[in-house]
Amino acid sequence: MAKTAPPPDKASLPNHVAIVMDGNGRWASKRMMPRAAGHVAGVSTVRTIVRAANDIGLPNLTLYAFSSENWKRPITEVSHLMGLFRAYVREDVSQLLENNVRVRFIGNRSRASEDIVALMKESEQRTAACTGLNLTLAFDYGSQEEIAAAARDMAREAAKGELDPEKITTDFFASRLSTAGTPDPDLVIRTSGEYRLSNFLLWQSAYSEFVFVDKAWPDFTREDFFEALDTFAQRERRFGAVTPEAVA
Ligand code: FPP
Repeated sequence: MAKTAPPPDKASLPNHVAIVMDGNGRWASKRMMPRAAGHVAGVSTVRTIVRAANDIGLPNLTLYAFSSENWKRPITEVSHLMGLFRAYVREDVSQLLENNVRVRFIGNRSRASEDIVALMKESEQRTAACTGLNLTLAFDYGSQEEIAAAARDMAREAAKGELDPEKITTDFFASRLSTAGTPDPDLVIRTSGEYRLSNFLLWQSAYSEFVFVDKAWPDFTREDFFEALDTFAQRERRFGAVTPEAVA
């Protein structure tokens, strides 16, 4: 019988979970299917996990949908991923709205096609007043690029005398990133047995807990998600400090 982790206790929930949805391609190859089939199955898991997160009252969920490095994939795969993303944003927004999910996007908006950018903007506007799950989709996102862009903007302002370099504290820097307004992830999950961040939320995950899951993203279930939340609940977070018992 399949393992069924119960929904986690609300008091032990992280405020923000971020997920690297990895393994679609290998999932498909193992089944002698084209990589595209793995991405299609991956979208279905996106729906399952967004629903689960909203059901249990998780405040924030960020999903890594397309990285700034993913453009290096064969054009056919990139086009297919763009098509799936377009369809998801277009077709799921009404349901997200119905379920009180607020959607926003982080990443570069200058490289995707105009219609996708317009759909993203429209879904952000339509769900802006939702008060349930805050869903962030990282699309054409890369942390190094995000950090460099923030530094470049601040340097420009400083050069014009509009920003005092002394004002650039860590909090100020964070307020200039695309994630400003969303708390840092407490938990980062990566599927498919790879142990990397792959340019995802580098600044923001400074004190995140990490849970690596062997299953590929298309096989990742609601119960696996709850299990990862349960693992998180058992972690001791010290944020660089020591526990009072260790001092004694
Ligand atoms: C990693 O699998 C996954 C991606 C590069 C993209 C994730 C995209 C989706 C789940 C579908 C679109 C997203 C949304 C929000 C609609 P991989 O191809 O790198 O797998 P591999 O490492 O096995 O090759």
